[in-house]
Amino acid sequence: MVQKELPVKKECERKQGSGNSENFSLADFFAFKGPTLEARMQGFSDYHKLESDAGRVQYGRCIASQPGPVVDIEKPNGQTQTLYMFGSNDYLGFTHNPEIKQAVNKVVDAYGVGMGGPPLLNGTHKLHKRLEAKLAEIKQAEDCLLFSSGFQANVGWATALLRSKDVVLYDELSHASLFDGLRLSKTTEKIKAYGFDTMTSKTLNACSSNMANQKVV
Ligand SMILES: Cc1ncc(COP(=O)(O)O)c(C=O)c1O
Repeated sequence: MVQKELPVKKECERKQGSGNSENFSLADFFAFKGPTLEARMQGFSDYHKLESDAGRVQYGRCIASQPGPVVDIEKPNGQTQTLYMFGSNDYLGFTHNPEIKQAVNKVVDAYGVGMGGPPLLNGTHKLHKRLEAKLAEIKQAEDCLLFSSGFQANVGWATALLRSKDVVLYDELSHASLFDGLRLSKTTEKIKAYGFDTMTSKTLNACSSNMANQKVV
């Protein structure tokens, strides 16, 4: 049986009525329980439909133009709306940089659009190796490892490098992907959460007496 009158449903309706769903958390929809996948999705489906019908699509919003500071949104009713984009992290405008576009086109012409398989089985392309070497040089680091997304990087390093009794100091406001990485990692000791401003040498020293194996900040 689907629980119809959960608080989250009322909250959905309240937010929908207020016309502001920006602060709504997807995690709220875990409150919808049921024996089937459809039942568990019901809360989100209802919410999404209400929002879409009102022209306020927050999830899966369809961008119909080039990504940039101003974008055309295709609304569910087929109309187009031009909006300012404040969520981008293309700070340097690389997506439209003519030199980068030309270089990408050249590489696609020469090598195609994918590796056709994972590095573990197929190997890593020399272009990736060159990029890693260049990035390491710019960052003055020993080496560099490319991941195709920030999420993969955070899950990758944490699961590969952390062991039991390691202590990780991280900012509580770190990106959600770091929390996923730490949850999947082998770290069984308490992971301490501090804001960076409270991460003093006293804190770090306290960790060493906490049987810390490795300290990662
Ligand atoms: C600090 C930080 N870490 C990780 C991520 C996740 O990156 P991605 O969306 O490429 O998985 C983001 C995304 O904005 C980020 O800002």
